This record gives sequence, C-alpha cells and structure tokens, in this order.
Amino acid sequence: MNKLLCGVAFAAILTTGVRADDVEVLHWWTSGGEAAAVQVLKGDLESKSVGWVDMAVAGGGGEAAMTTLRARVTAGDPPTAAQMLGMDVRQWAEEGLLGNLDAVATAEGWDAVVPPAVQAFGKYDGHWVAAPVNMHRPHWVWANAKLFADNGLSMPSNWDEFFAAADKLKEAGVIPVAMGGQPWQEATAWEAVILSISPELYQKAIIEADAEALASPEIAQSFDIMRKLRGYVDDNFAGRDWNLATQMVIKGEAGMQIMGDWAKGEISAAGLTPGVDILCDVVPGTQGSFLFNTDFFAMFDVGDDKTAAQQSLASSVMSPVFQETFNLTKGSIPARTDVPGDKFDACAQKSMADLAEATDAGHLYGSLAHGHGQPAAIQRAYLDVVTQHFNSDMSSADAQAALIDAVAAAKM
Ligand code: BGC
Repeated sequence: MNKLLCGVAFAAILTTGVRADDVEVLHWWTSGGEAAAVQVLKGDLESKSVGWVDMAVAGGGGEAAMTTLRARVTAGDPPTAAQMLGMDVRQWAEEGLLGNLDAVATAEGWDAVVPPAVQAFGKYDGHWVAAPVNMHRPHWVWANAKLFADNGLSMPSNWDEFFAAADKLKEAGVIPVAMGGQPWQEATAWEAVILSISPELYQKAIIEADAEALASPEIAQSFDIMRKLRGYVDDNFAGRDWNLATQMVIKGEAGMQIMGDWAKGEISAAGLTPGVDILCDVVPGTQGSFLFNTDFFAMFDVGDDKTAAQQSLASSVMSPVFQETFNLTKGSIPARTDVPGDKFDACAQKSMADLAEATDAGHLYGSLAHGHGQPAAIQRAYLDVVTQHFNSDMSSADAQAALIDAVAAAKM
C-alpha cells in the first residue's frame, strides 16, 4: 500500500473507531432473511474475538453496495472486507487492490473442496483473492402451496403450464406473479427464460455475448415470453424490492415469484418450510441446467495490522460448520462440496443434486443478473434493454435490435 493510501486509511480507522481486531464489512444483506444470515457470520467472528463493524448498503443484487464500495476506495477509505459477486472480484483483482488469501487457503485446503467454477472467480492469476461463502441459484419459481392446492395446481414444468396456472390464479382473484420492478429482478427472470429456451442459447447469447446468437429468433422469443409474463404482474410492481414480492407469495396475495433461493431466507424467517408451505421448482424448462451466483468476501489493503482479522474472516467463512449454519439461514447451498446436505430443506437438497448433474452435463453457467455472466459494463447493456422492454410496450423485434446494439457497443 502506498504511504498516502496508508495514511488516509489510518485516519479513517481513527474516525470510524474500527479497532485492529475489528473488521468493517461492506455488504447488501438487509432483508429479514439476509440480516439473519449476517448475524450468523457476525456471531461466528465475535466468538473468535473479531469485532464486526457493519457497513450495510441496502439494495438487492448489490448494485448500490458496489457504487458505495467504489466511492470508498476512490476516497482512499476502503472497508476491511466487502461482499461481492464473481465479476466484481475479478475486476478489483485486476486493479490490484485485493489482498492475497493464499496462506489461509493453502493451510485449509480450499483447492480440494471448492468447485472449479467458483474457484474461477475466487482466484486471480492463480492466487486466492476472495473467500466464497455460498452458491445461490437464481432460476427458481416459489409458489404458495395453499393457493396451489385450493386451485388444483401443481408446479409447472413448461411455460404453457406456467401461464395456465397463472390464468387460474387470476380467476381466483390473486395476483398470479409477484415481481419487483428493478432491472436486476427483471433480468433474473429473463436469463431464466433464455436458459429455458436452451442451455446452448444461454452459453452463446450470454456467456459469449455472441452477435449471431443475439440475432437469432430465440432472442425475440425470449422477449415474447417476458411480455406474456408482464401480463400477470400487478400494476404496482415498479421499484418494489424482491423481498416484498416474496412476502406477497408468503401471505397468499400472489401465487408465484421467479427469484433466486435467497427468497428461501425470507420463507424460513417467516417460520414457514420451503418445499412444504412455499413450493419450489426450477423455472420451467431449466431442469438439467444450473445458473449460479456466489457471494464472496474480498479483503482490501487497509494496513498490516488488519491482516490477522482479515484472515480470521476468510477462515470463518470457509469453515465447513460455518458454511452449513450460514447457508441454512441464507437459502443457498455451501460453496464447499464436503458439507453434508442432511440438515438442508428439500429445495436446497434439489439444488445440490441438480448442481452435480448440471456440472457433469456441462450445463453449469454463471448468472448474468448476479455478476457471474459478464463484466459490469456489458451486464449493464443487457439489463438496460431487458428492463426497458419490460416497462414499456416495446416490441420483441425492437428489444432484440436494441440488445444487439447495446451489447456490441459495450463490448468495444
Ligand atoms: C446475492 C444474494 C442476495 C441477493 C438479493 C444476490 O446477488 O448473491 O446474496 O441475497 O442478491 O439481495
């Protein structure tokens, strides 16, 4: 660290009152279920005499948190550690600002237990730079079991069944699909639609941002499905947070939500059992594939006196017992393959089994909406078009043309 940065960081420690054995952790886990998961991490650290200084920045998907992080680092006042998704880990590592975690990773054998797809983001240039805490899966449908039973419905396995169920729910006077209106939430649905059309389309049109795939008729088809979906969402969705949409399903005001398994954190926090009171299945047509996003903790260079606390944080996050306890609350599955699944609910157990199957079949992909598909600038191009289409009467053809242009411009 240069002297200037060091001096500024030291001044920040004085002003924020962060002690050498404290960690200031920037994160975006502020919903009920997320906050419960933070308590698990905080408690684990405190048992090791590492104090937790909370730097929570509200906003699902973490965009606001990443803006705050950038501002803090630019001001010469980085937090001790920050939650971040894979592409952000890579970007900060490229900038040379992340601490090296090799000593703790080697001592604890991370290489042998973390899936290669997660290692690809947690390591940079062969060195561990971030500790993975979980594997989330964004392409789930959550459904109110009582509403489904009362209306003779079962979980849909294709889009026709999904929309037929939505029609029945509408007739029954409930909102068929609870959605929050924020770009990342709309993109969570759209990327699942792409995957449902085919895993090859997801690989080409998203992971490779391939111009030919983006120009294919399947992309127009994805916008047709999004338009149809929009017809089953209530008019008040704009700006709604994801967890409020989950609450609508929990309370029986809405029948279904397409959302990642962090929704399970809300379900458990409400005292309900995922898979029983709130049904889960993957988005129709996506069985056999697995999109993932992993929350990492990366360490910033805030002076040598912080290294021990940072290593404790990294070591805590990676301990098998912690990964079990934390992920039981968070809704995700562990980022280690050696944690037993027996304490997990049926939805998480399905996730574990599906992950193994998709990995073997070569159908495991990073989530675009959740920072594992494309770097932030290209990701933004996709999200802008998807949200513009969903929030207007734009045709599928126009949305496709806009997407082709936006992605090409972002790639330059
Ligand atoms: C994160 C989750 C978080 C969700 C909603 C995702 O990008 O990976 O940990 O719960 O956003 O905020």
